[in-house]
Amino acid sequence: QNERDSQFIVSNWAKDHYHRLLQGTEEGMSVGYGYLKERGLNLATIQTFELGYSLDQWDDLLKSATAAGYALKYLEKTGLVIKREDDQGHDTGRRYDRFRGRVMFPIHNISGRVVGFGARTLKRDDKMAKYLNSPESEIYHKSDVLYGLFQARQAIRQEEVCYLVEGYLDVLSLYQGGIKNVVASSGTSLTEGQIRLIKRYSDNVTVLYDGDAAGIKASLRGTDLLLEGGLNVRVVLFPDGDDPDSYIRKVGDQRFAEYIEKSSQDFITFKTTLVARDAAGDPVKKAEAIRQVLTSIAKVPDAIKRQVFLQQTSAAFGIDEQVLITEYNKLVKPAG
Ligand code: CTP
Ligand code: MN
Ligand code: MN
Ligand code: MN
Ligand code: MN
Repeated sequence: QNERDSQFIVSNWAKDHYHRLLQGTEEGMSVGYGYLKERGLNLATIQTFELGYSLDQWDDLLKSATAAGYALKYLEKTGLVIKREDDQGHDTGRRYDRFRGRVMFPIHNISGRVVGFGARTLKRDDKMAKYLNSPESEIYHKSDVLYGLFQARQAIRQEEVCYLVEGYLDVLSLYQGGIKNVVASSGTSLTEGQIRLIKRYSDNVTVLYDGDAAGIKASLRGTDLLLEGGLNVRVVLFPDGDDPDSYIRKVGDQRFAEYIEKSSQDFITFKTTLVARDAAGDPVKKAEAIRQVLTSIAKVPDAIKRQVFLQQTSAAFGIDEQVLITEYNKLVKPAG
């Protein structure tokens, strides 16, 4: 049994422990389970994603794990338990739980093993980080994990598209609403590793990020990365202030599915409408907008697709295709 195995084993034990606490204790039931119910999640979803609750105590996990025979070393390596240091950075010998009084979202790798946790605070006060995540470890590489992929992978293959959302609750609400081919980048900006993971299951991605300025910015950036990875990209925008979770709760499963269907845009239309919105009537801005779209197209590895996208852009902006291609070539191979 090597170091990594020991970390997998203790993570799996912690997942079971948090899951037990959720419904097996009064605090878990009233605080943790109560919160999930309030957010509209049912028991089936809680079981499928093995959701849990960490007690609002300094050392519940530490004590329980130690009593069950787990070595402190692996609790620390996985970040479940934190070493308390003094001002000089010396070990005080004291230890405490990283996750306390939070709803626990275990993060599985594609073989279903727990590699880390996301944890949401239930306190409304602003000083507390809303989400706390496991630190990087020998078994948890944040940039190579997609939340929900383990549960979604068959549906992604079957539906031939992967829905990409920002957060844990987005995955859970959509999955529960019948959209099972959904994964979250978990707030981090999308990485190449995450894109490689998606590609193992499908070439088509539809980005469903939050309908706020940050979400739109992340969609733009994510789109370029996905294109670079050779994926076909569509984007759905939500009303400002909504994310997929709040929106599906608002309109219901049926209307949500219809919304996705009718509002999804190919990346050129998405970029074009976004940039055209504030470029209206200004030729300088319009030219800049076109260059931005061309820059995205240049990232597409497939030459035939690039050609089709150029035609589409020429139609969208009403620019002669030859002119556009000349500009495109200048952009890709700058003179000099
Ligand atoms: N996130 C994080 N740490 C934070 C904030 C966000 O890791 N301090 C990640 C989480 O994975 C979160 C995702 O980014 O799910 C999206 O963030 P946000 O939209 O702010 O949260 P929601 O998922 O919408 O959560 P909720 O609906 O509970 O507010
Ligand atoms: Mn269970
Ligand atoms: Mn967000
Ligand atoms: Mn949300
Ligand atoms: Mn959100």
